[in-house]
Amino acid sequence: MKKEASKKSIINPWEVSGNVNYEKLIKEFGTSKISEDIYKKLDKCHPLLKRRIYFSHRDFDKWLEDYHKGKKVSVITGRGPSEKMHLGHLVPFLVAKSLQEQFNCEVFIPISDDEKFFVKKDLSYEKALEYSKDNILDLIALGFKPGKTFIFQDFVYTDIYKYAAQVAKRMTYSTAKAAFGLTPENNVGWSFYPAVQAAHILFPQFHRGKHRSVVPVGIDQDPFIRLTRDVASYPEFNFEKPAALHAKFIPSLHGSVKMSSSESASEGVIFLSDTAKEVEKKIKKYAFSGGQATIDEHRKHGGNPDIDVSFQYLKMLFEPDDKKLAKIESDYRSGKLLTGELKEILIKKINLFLKEHQKAREQAKKQLDKFLVK
Ligand code: TRP
Repeated sequence: MKKEASKKSIINPWEVSGNVNYEKLIKEFGTSKISEDIYKKLDKCHPLLKRRIYFSHRDFDKWLEDYHKGKKVSVITGRGPSEKMHLGHLVPFLVAKSLQEQFNCEVFIPISDDEKFFVKKDLSYEKALEYSKDNILDLIALGFKPGKTFIFQDFVYTDIYKYAAQVAKRMTYSTAKAAFGLTPENNVGWSFYPAVQAAHILFPQFHRGKHRSVVPVGIDQDPFIRLTRDVASYPEFNFEKPAALHAKFIPSLHGSVKMSSSESASEGVIFLSDTAKEVEKKIKKYAFSGGQATIDEHRKHGGNPDIDVSFQYLKMLFEPDDKKLAKIESDYRSGKLLTGELKEILIKKINLFLKEHQKAREQAKKQLDKFLVK
């Protein structure tokens, strides 16, 4: 067997592994590359957008067009809570928030505790509820606009069922199976859940009438978008097909493709609840370095920021200033900046962010009423 075969990447909502060729994914999934023209219109947005971690879309050009014509547009993205939140989980929400700021639009955030309850063998019903409550506080703490942001949890906002049922009637079992590779051993919750997530994605239109909504998500979630777009155009609904913005995967501290929960155990992720000490320890000990083995060699040959996780975190999340980032990059490449120094910059930035976040999370406990859909 050829070596490449064993490295084949697997990408679907339940599994991401191997090397990911993003250009190829655009072709395979039939999505569109985000054009220069679109990036130009997003230059005030979060670094995740303007620095092209978001690389692919469906109909986002139409979403922008609608906005510029003065039509209603909205954003919807969700969270499947199966653990405490870590930095990687923030990606779609930071983007949703930045779209809300730039385009002054409503944001809808479904919490799929049912999804994780079905899919995770060891997750009890009570624990799923608990993680939802916990994760919702982190989401509110990000600073979404009250009155323009609507969060709901499937197990609590059970009205979602009436939408999910209407969607389910127009979705065949084989469509769900083809998109998710369901096996005969999967419980039936798995096969119904795609209808629930489609109902989430159509919720802004069920709730507010026909308009274009965009879903910022990891590219692994695209099968849900495809299904939902098919359902949206049924005459019974006559909805707009939801648009999408697709992100690349954020590396874990070890540099692997996606920060997954299995890596949490091996300390490959930074939790939003981590203390300053824990952050410092994890970054120093685990953040994959693109630097050379010794200081002498590093000064001589320089480091490689493209594979250096600390640099990538600064680029994606923690250094919004383009000039400062460019200086860090060139100093690292030239060998002027050492790995230890680069890590110090990141540790400071993360800890500053987490200090504010943890404060905001306490405040969020008093703000639940302003955000939860009833
Ligand atoms: N399935 C998503 C995940 O596991 C969470 C999610 C639920 C979601 N509803 C959604 C994402 C609607 C986008 C849109 O991360």
